[in-house]
Amino acid sequence: MNATKIQQGFSKSANTYDRFTGLHREIADKLFAQVINENTPSALLDVGCGTGYLTVRFKEHWPQGRIVGLDFSPGMLEVARCKHGGIDWVLGDSNNLPFSDGCFDALISNLAYQWAGDLSCAFTEARRVLAPDGILACTLFGYHTCRELFQSLDEAKTKALQFTRLPDEAQVRQALAASGFEGPIVDVEKNKIGFNSMRELLTWLKSIGANNLSQEGFLGPEAMSRAASIYHRKFPYLQGVGATFEVIRVYVRK
Ligand SMILES: C[S@@+](CC[C@H](N)C(=O)[O-])C[C@H]1O[C@@H](n2cnc3c(N)ncnc32)[C@H](O)[C@@H]1O
Repeated sequence: MNATKIQQGFSKSANTYDRFTGLHREIADKLFAQVINENTPSALLDVGCGTGYLTVRFKEHWPQGRIVGLDFSPGMLEVARCKHGGIDWVLGDSNNLPFSDGCFDALISNLAYQWAGDLSCAFTEARRVLAPDGILACTLFGYHTCRELFQSLDEAKTKALQFTRLPDEAQVRQALAASGFEGPIVDVEKNKIGFNSMRELLTWLKSIGANNLSQEGFLGPEAMSRAASIYHRKFPYLQGVGATFEVIRVYVRK
């Protein structure tokens, strides 16, 4: 995956992101509920904080703690900064965290690590900045996310296009092990969401910044319309079409 493209996609969507991400907030709320059972951390880092929804929830819950939100998209951070002045908003990459070893006792991340590219590198960095006994609690969209869309595009394409697929559970487990985390709890859940059409799904993906389906280019209008027919025929749901969102949840202690 091309990091600059991902970064630009999120920066462009920063102003619409909050309006279209009810699903992301639901997943964030579950992560929040899980982490607040922990002892109050003195320093917490939110990696890929986006517009800061979850970061702000933690700051409001633990006002005395040092809460840091990190993201590599300047546009997302600009929106986040307007929400809360008491949080350190840091521009940076999950794969090269600008912090010293062991300086956080909790590292959380909601739906960002699937874009990290080299997941082992990202988790190694996460482990490095955690203090002994610190926790990593994160969620990622998994491989089966939008599987109906990928299958329809694949069947409709007439040229060799490789679609960008997200890491699966086994890859996440491997990356955790490679970065030195032991005994992680990894859960997977699937949510199905209805859209009026494939076009509506694609517009939604664009408005949340996740529109980098392929690195090699586009299908073209004819193949897209073929893909839409395949999608409607094979994956009808409620009044339109269905899309799967696979969420991988990780909880592990250093
Ligand atoms: C789907 S959004 C999630 C944002 C937020 N955590 C939420 O729950 O709404 C993914 C975020 O991760 C950021 N991101 C993706 N790859 C990143 C990386 N390698 N380093 C830092 N941030 C990254 C994007 O810029 C984007 O803001």
